[in-house]
Amino acid sequence: MKVVAFNGSPKKEGNTYHAIKMVAEELEKEGVEVEIIHVGNKTIRGCLACNACARNKNEKCIIDNDEVNEWIQKMKEADGIILGSPVHYSAIAGTMKSFLDRAFYVAGSGMLRHKVGASVVAVRRSGGVTTFEQLNNYINYSEMLMPTSNYWNVIHGAAPGEVIGDEEGKQIMRVLGKNMAWLMKLVQNGKGTVKEPEREDKVFTNFIR
Ligand SMILES: Cc1cc2nc3c(=O)[nH]c(=O)nc-3n(C[C@H](O)[C@H](O)[C@H](O)COP(=O)(O)O)c2cc1C
Repeated sequence: MKVVAFNGSPKKEGNTYHAIKMVAEELEKEGVEVEIIHVGNKTIRGCLACNACARNKNEKCIIDNDEVNEWIQKMKEADGIILGSPVHYSAIAGTMKSFLDRAFYVAGSGMLRHKVGASVVAVRRSGGVTTFEQLNNYINYSEMLMPTSNYWNVIHGAAPGEVIGDEEGKQIMRVLGKNMAWLMKLVQNGKGTVKEPEREDKVFTNFIR
């Protein structure tokens, strides 16, 4: 089984990377391969809201001059996905947000259904939970299955690597990794044995009554 993890920090080996690594270590102990992709240092513009992806139904964003389409295919091939971001102004870091909006607009309506997905956040002081919730919105929208930990998946530190001193944060990531590996195994072992619920077409009411 394979997990693809997206590091939304501009820093290659900053605190978000370390948080992902802590989860990855537990996954790897259980035989799950983990690939970490560095998103935060790339040039990725935001969604154009052109709806070309919905019209073309070709698993592609119409903006084809960056890595987003390649990463969508990586998500398609993976059994599990980790979304990692540092907190920037109590929110997802900008480049990561641009990637997520475009990738999940393409992939979120069916492609990721019943894959396992988890979010992790690195923060100096506050804004961790709001950012965690924002990341989870992509997972929730896509009908993915979300493993949990024993607290919100937030780890504290400022300078790169400082999170390694956050003992509680480390436990949160460790427990998340163990639970994620277990859930992935449950999903894999359930295939062909436990019937999946049928997918419903989405109802769009725009709050018009
Ligand atoms: C532009 C910017 C905005 C930030 N905003 C916040 C914030 O709102 N709250 C906070 O506690 N830390 C904030 N930080 C600090 C980072 O979240 C923190 O240093 C984090 O560990 C960085 O993770 P990284 O090493 O993976 O980039 C900000 C950092 C930057 C560069």
